[in-house]
Amino acid sequence: MAERKPVHITKEQLAEQRGYAAEVSAMENRPRSYHVVTYGCQMNAHDSEKLSGMLRQMGMEEAPTREDADFVIFNTCCVRDNAERRALGNVTWLKEVRKKNPNLIIAVCGCMIQQPGMAEKILKQYKFIDLAFGTSNLWRLPELLHRTLRSDRSVVVVEEEDSIAEDLPVQRLRQDAAYITIMYGCDNFCSYCIVPYVRGRERSRDPEAILREARELHASGVKEIMLLGQNVNSYGKGLECGMNFPELLRRLDEVGIPRIRFMTSHPKDLSDELIEVLGQSKHILPQFHLPVQHGNDEILRRMNRRYTREQYLDKVRKLRQAVPGIGLTTDIIVGFPGETEEQFLDTLSIVEEVGYDSAFTFIYSPRTGTVAASMEDQIPEDVATDRIKRLIAAQEAGQKKAMSRFIGSEEEVLVEGLSRRSDKAVSGHGRHGVSITFPGTESDIGQIVRVRVTEMKNNTLMGERI
Ligand code: SAH
Ligand code: SF4
Ligand code: F3S
Repeated sequence: MAERKPVHITKEQLAEQRGYAAEVSAMENRPRSYHVVTYGCQMNAHDSEKLSGMLRQMGMEEAPTREDADFVIFNTCCVRDNAERRALGNVTWLKEVRKKNPNLIIAVCGCMIQQPGMAEKILKQYKFIDLAFGTSNLWRLPELLHRTLRSDRSVVVVEEEDSIAEDLPVQRLRQDAAYITIMYGCDNFCSYCIVPYVRGRERSRDPEAILREARELHASGVKEIMLLGQNVNSYGKGLECGMNFPELLRRLDEVGIPRIRFMTSHPKDLSDELIEVLGQSKHILPQFHLPVQHGNDEILRRMNRRYTREQYLDKVRKLRQAVPGIGLTTDIIVGFPGETEEQFLDTLSIVEEVGYDSAFTFIYSPRTGTVAASMEDQIPEDVATDRIKRLIAAQEAGQKKAMSRFIGSEEEVLVEGLSRRSDKAVSGHGRHGVSITFPGTESDIGQIVRVRVTEMKNNTLMGERI
């Protein structure tokens, strides 16, 4: 792997983009409204908030649906084949919408575009796409849109550059909770995973910039921040100041924001120091997303995860010791190449042993260019489907048991919205990360409310106000 240094986007470069934004807003043929469609993980959700921020800077208003917009941008994911197919299906469907609105501009960005060969494919097969750009080029949207508006050909820009851009305008989805990216990219190269190829090399933001952002969010009344990165606990790699993730958390804990969360953590980088900080902090929530991926050592080795089942379980024990009652969640893959029935049973048993509050379960999806995609013995679809069904059943049983520990206890809930089942109830997440529903009204949204959990109904925790 060639040495690649992070590229810090300068203030001058950003000023130039603001110049383009001003020019776009003065253009006669510019779009007046936009709609952003987001696929994939929280990183993409936050990138979309930045896209919205820049589009507003160009004088556009958000349209409620894609059919109403003059400019539609798809922020895509390619972590699994179905994510990619869904995105491409929707982009193609938009071609029909353009028949009604000939001025419609279609843009596609995100991880899917950053895949090798994709730029050429767009130019050949998807000519109706007006603008496409990769994950590293997001900060240049004003310039790219400017170029698109002046050209009658597709603009496609995919650079392999590990950029860090500070101070982009952000249009946040929620006022009470906010994302803060602390690091970009990934260097782990788990053998099944495309992310390191489409998000570039791991690079950490300057801690002072992160702290400044956190203080500003606190001052604006934000109650919860979510720190984002593909592998947050390796934060600091390559920084000259020597800051690491536990120390960053300590500093963020002092800012005073009531709730701090983070994702995702890699088990191999979960240090004793981090566990200690969790045990001592005031504002870091007692919850931890710790993707296990598999329960069998041989498969973990071939996945290049660099921990064993026993090492993983040891970290779980330490977490539970330091933070009693901690909410644990995970990601699991079934049907990795060569996975035998016996090896799969190890996944079932680790799920039972840990007792997760929730788990994201996936059927392995071969991704071109990754090591696992060319492994022999790819698992037939019917076998994988059968395994994921059994895994989901085991997880649901474990979840029920794990969640029952909350019945009778008190939780602080940050109310996110009206309950889906009733307009006289609201729901939100407790400090441990589980969703709780209780009587309330719209005026509770964005507030932190103390609740006693009374029962579990259809896998949902129900509560009453204290
Ligand atoms: N950086 C995070 C998240 C990566 S993507 C982490 O390391 O945990 C989110 C999840 O998608 C992964 O945890 C993994 O479970 C799943 N995933 C990634 N590549 C996949 C593939 N090729 N097939 C199926 N699931 C995959
Ligand atoms: Fe993918 Fe592994 Fe990196 Fe997570 S840690 S993004 S699973 S390569
Ligand atoms: Fe998907 Fe890219 Fe996230 S591939 S999961 S959107 S980092």
